[in-house]
Amino acid sequence: MCGIIGYIGMQNASPILVDGLRKLEYRGYDSAGIAVKNGDISIHKKIGKVADLESILPKKIEGTCGIAHTRWATHGGVTDANAHPHASEDGKVAIIHNGIIENASQIRKHLQSEGVKFSSETDSEVLVHLIHRNLEGGSAPLTAVRKALRRIRGTWGLCVLFADHEAIICARNGSPLVVGIGEGESYIASDPHALTPYTQRVIFLEDGDLAELTPGDIRTSRMDGSAADSTVTTIEETWAEAELGDFPHFMLKEIHEQPEALRHCITGRTLGSEGTGKLGGLGLSPRELQRISHVRLIGCGTALHACQVGRLSIETLARVPALAHVASEFRYNDPVIDSNALYFAVSQSGETADTLAAVKEIQLKGGRVRGVINVVGSSIARQCGSGAYIHSGPEQAVASTKAFTNMVAALSLFAIQIGRARTLSRAQGRNLIKSLNAVPNKIEEYLANPGPIAEAVALLSKAKSVLFLGRGVSAPVAREGALKLMEVAYIPCLGYPAGEMKHGPIALLEEGSPVVVIAPNDSHRNKTISSIHECRARGAKIILIHEEGDSIAEDGDISIPVPSTDSMFTPLLTVLPLQLIAYHTALALDCDVDRPRNLAKSVTVE
Ligand code: M6R
Repeated sequence: MCGIIGYIGMQNASPILVDGLRKLEYRGYDSAGIAVKNGDISIHKKIGKVADLESILPKKIEGTCGIAHTRWATHGGVTDANAHPHASEDGKVAIIHNGIIENASQIRKHLQSEGVKFSSETDSEVLVHLIHRNLEGGSAPLTAVRKALRRIRGTWGLCVLFADHEAIICARNGSPLVVGIGEGESYIASDPHALTPYTQRVIFLEDGDLAELTPGDIRTSRMDGSAADSTVTTIEETWAEAELGDFPHFMLKEIHEQPEALRHCITGRTLGSEGTGKLGGLGLSPRELQRISHVRLIGCGTALHACQVGRLSIETLARVPALAHVASEFRYNDPVIDSNALYFAVSQSGETADTLAAVKEIQLKGGRVRGVINVVGSSIARQCGSGAYIHSGPEQAVASTKAFTNMVAALSLFAIQIGRARTLSRAQGRNLIKSLNAVPNKIEEYLANPGPIAEAVALLSKAKSVLFLGRGVSAPVAREGALKLMEVAYIPCLGYPAGEMKHGPIALLEEGSPVVVIAPNDSHRNKTISSIHECRARGAKIILIHEEGDSIAEDGDISIPVPSTDSMFTPLLTVLPLQLIAYHTALALDCDVDRPRNLAKSVTVE
């Protein structure tokens, strides 16, 4: 979603800003822009990719202070005019803004009635006019921004550039911003990883914070003018440069990174002899694990599907009631929070607005919430305070792949850990740990020989819609397969528990309709076979994901075997062909596989 980068120092700003924009590209966006202070403020903005912006930039833009933005449209269409930065009428102030201003239309009407001319349809533009008017009224830059924000209802990650002041003013409320500290230079970004090539020393702004950046100084304050916490954090984990290597797309690269990513997630987090998981970051003793009344897991999209797998593992292995919740529903349904329950916020980016809001709601009501997060130092990770990083490494493709497997693995480790603190025997625990540790090699084995994916793609790329079915832990895998194909290949897909199929989705089936069935050799297998027969009786063609050596293969029109494993861990293997099917179908349909239309990598608005 929208990205922010800013620089003030001694170097020429524009190359740093453009480089930062490239690092933010993976978040998803539809236009980009840059503003550099050089006497006046020169602004260049363009719909399309950062490369499109670069194509219109002058060879050299003089100036050592500037801000830049990637926009993911919310208010107003995808046009050059709506791209950020936005400037005051006299061009003396420019802003970039992430977030949503809820009372923008009232403020716009008011400003227009006083003669202000707007150049865009965005909600953000009101900010620049308010700030400009405050400056005209005699306020200093920081005060002008603070006063403007007092009139705003909504969320912001905001940076303001002034033609007549050597400073960038930044403010955060609900949309992340991190300040980078250099030698005689300062940076600001929405994503710490845009800063790590320049500095590891950062200050994470909190909601309600403002920061005034000058070349050699950073001053933070609160909305009421009081001092803000300006603890300097050193980012230890630098994300590798986003390089494709031998792969044509990030999605394929990340699918193939799963064995190694999974090893990073589980290494050092198992005690084989004790047959237990060891997620030390949760900060929960066996006694505390015994007392947990129930577990709630919260996430969106792929993370939600990982939660749905995790909740089954927890109930099965620990006999503790567990539920998975859609974060956007959870936060607004005035949830009853039980202080004896344990809540998990699951997120790859750690910036998903709905999940972050759910965390705050839980904490406000006295609940304990732990993060299961990929991005170190992200907003949700910091808000939770403790949890387990999933260590997938950078995930650049919008379609989440390796984060899913690692979320499932981290939650499985927790299920074993809480299980062992309660009813799970040592022998059972040891078998589970042994099986989990064997999964990375099995993923490698599968990816080396992925089966008849091309046949499945030939069938799916002609489909009007696709139904994905599974039972037990395979029901969320079916949903994940549907989400993946839908988001990258734009084919309407439904992911359903197989038993629910006859209550509605069966109406979609006609001669040749593709149905993808996930049917590992677990306790649900025979019931799933019945669902397959119900589909076939209506002319459906079955793409069957099954475990190697299982005679169920005969029930598929196209059967794709994956290595067999403990029934708790089958999602780590059955999801692989679904990821490959989505990827190759998107390619067959000529879709932009890494940057699907309308989608953003981190969804920082509600
Ligand atoms: O960063 P998060 O894990 O919180 O993101 C949640 C969803 O936005 C994300 O999983 C989305 O559904 C992906 N595009 C799925 O591939």
